[in-house]
Amino acid sequence: MAKLAKLDDIVSLCKRRGFIFQSSEIYGGLASCYDYGPLGVELKNNVRKAWWKAVVQMRDDVVGLDCSILMHPLVWKASGHADKFADLICECKKCNTRTRVDHLKDKAEEGAAAQEHIEHVDIEKEVAAQHDLSNKVCPDCGKVGNFTEPMPFKLMFETQMGANVDDSMTLFLRPETAQGIFANFRNVLDTTRVKIPFGIAQIGKSFRNEVTTKAFIFRTREFEQAELEFFCEPGTDDEWFEHWKEQRFNWYLNLGIKKENLRFREHDADELAHYAKGCVDVEYKFPFGSGDWQELEGIANRTDYDLRQHQRGMRTLNAWFEAKGDLAKIELKAEAEEYLKGPLSYFDDVEKKRYIPYVIEPSAGIDRSTLAFLVDAYDEEEVRGEKRNLLRFHPALAPTKVAVFPLVRKDGMPEIARNIYNDLKEHFTTFYDEKGAVGRRYRRQDEAGTPFCITVDGQTLEDKTVTVRERDSMEQVRVATDKLPGHLREKLV
Ligand code: GLY
Repeated sequence: MAKLAKLDDIVSLCKRRGFIFQSSEIYGGLASCYDYGPLGVELKNNVRKAWWKAVVQMRDDVVGLDCSILMHPLVWKASGHADKFADLICECKKCNTRTRVDHLKDKAEEGAAAQEHIEHVDIEKEVAAQHDLSNKVCPDCGKVGNFTEPMPFKLMFETQMGANVDDSMTLFLRPETAQGIFANFRNVLDTTRVKIPFGIAQIGKSFRNEVTTKAFIFRTREFEQAELEFFCEPGTDDEWFEHWKEQRFNWYLNLGIKKENLRFREHDADELAHYAKGCVDVEYKFPFGSGDWQELEGIANRTDYDLRQHQRGMRTLNAWFEAKGDLAKIELKAEAEEYLKGPLSYFDDVEKKRYIPYVIEPSAGIDRSTLAFLVDAYDEEEVRGEKRNLLRFHPALAPTKVAVFPLVRKDGMPEIARNIYNDLKEHFTTFYDEKGAVGRRYRRQDEAGTPFCITVDGQTLEDKTVTVRERDSMEQVRVATDKLPGHLREKLV
C-alpha cells in the first residue's frame, strides 16, 4: 500500500532534490511565489506536454494559440472581470487578518473544510447582502464575531503601460488565459479551416491577487493555466460538456492518478462564475489543506456569454476614449440586432444559419496538477531494512527517463557508460552518474522518479550487455547495448 505523503514530506523532497524552491529565497522569500528547479521544470514541462498532446495533438478538432498576458483593458470590461472579479473579505478587528468571508468557519464547525471558490461576485449585490459573521472565528487569532463589514477585494493585478504620466494606461495582468482565445476567435476562423464544433487551446501564466494563498504551489498568485475553449452549436453544449468531463477525468487517470483520489464535484448555483451556466470540478484528494478534496480543474459551460460580451465591448471603443480609459464610466449595451450579425458570430454554410457559438471550457491548473502528480507518485517503502523514498511517476511525466552508471570507475566502464549516455540523450532526458556506491545512485534516481537505470558492469566488457533496472519493481534485465533505444522506447511511451 502506497504511503500517504504529507505536505511537509513533499515540500522537503522538492527542496532537497531541486523540484521546487521558494521564490527570492536569498532575500527571505516572496510569499506564494515559487520557482521550479532542474527536476521541477522537466516535470512541469512534461505535464504541459501531456496536456497539449491529449487536447491538441491527438485531436482533429482543436488548434493551439499563445496570447499575450497584457490585453486591451476593454477586454476585462467586456468579460465582466473589471466589475465582478472580486472576493468578499472582512478584517478581524483584533489582529487585522483579512479573510475571505466564504472561508470563515462557524465556531461549531472549526476544523471542518471551508467552502471553496466563490469568485466573480457581483460586488454591489454581495455588499448589500446580509452576512452574519457573529459566530465566525478568525483563522489567525481565534477571536469570534469581531469583524469589519464585508468589503469587496479586487483580484486583478494592475500595472502601467507607457513612460509618460499623460499617456500611460492602466492594464491588468490577465486573470485567465481564456479571454485571449475569445479575442482571437475571428482570427482563427479566418486563417484556418476549422468548423464548428472545434476548440482553441492555450497554456500560459495567469495572475490573481488572492486574499489567502495556500498549500505550497496549490494556490499561488501567479499560476499557469491550461485552457480549452470548445466552440459548439447552442443546443449541443450539454453533450460536449459531458464529452469533455469524461476526457479530462480520464487524462488524470491515464497519467497514473489513483482512481480513489479523483472525483467530480458539481458547483452549487451560488458558486457559479458570472459567465457559467454549469460547472463541475475535477477534484483531487490532497492529504493536506483545508479538507482534502481540492479543485484541479473546472469544466464550465460558458454559453455564448463571452463572445456576445466582446461583440458589445468592441463597440465601446469610442466611449472608452471619451471616458479617458475609465472603465467604470463605460456601459455595455445588449443590442439584439448586432447579436447575430457581429464578427464574433459564426455562419454555418451547410445549414445556412448564423449563431453565436456556445463554449465548453475545461480549465486546468498546471501547478496544481503538478503537485497532484507529485503527491500521488510519492511513496516510501522498506527494502532490506532500509527506507526507500520514491516517486512512481508515469513515464511520460518522469523528469529524467533514464540514468546511466558505470558500476565502478575503472576497467573502461566509465567510457562505455558515457557512450551509452551520449547515444540515449538524443532520444530521452538522460542523466549520467559515476559517483558513490551504485546502490546509493539507484536510491537517488528512485527519489527523482527516474523509471530506468542502466549499469555498465564486468559482463558488459565481455558480451556488450548492460543491466536495465526498473524503478518500481527494482527488477533487472540484461539488454544488448545496441538494443537499448528500442527497448526503452517501448517502455517509455
Ligand atoms: N477560465 C476559467 C478560470 O480561469 O477560472
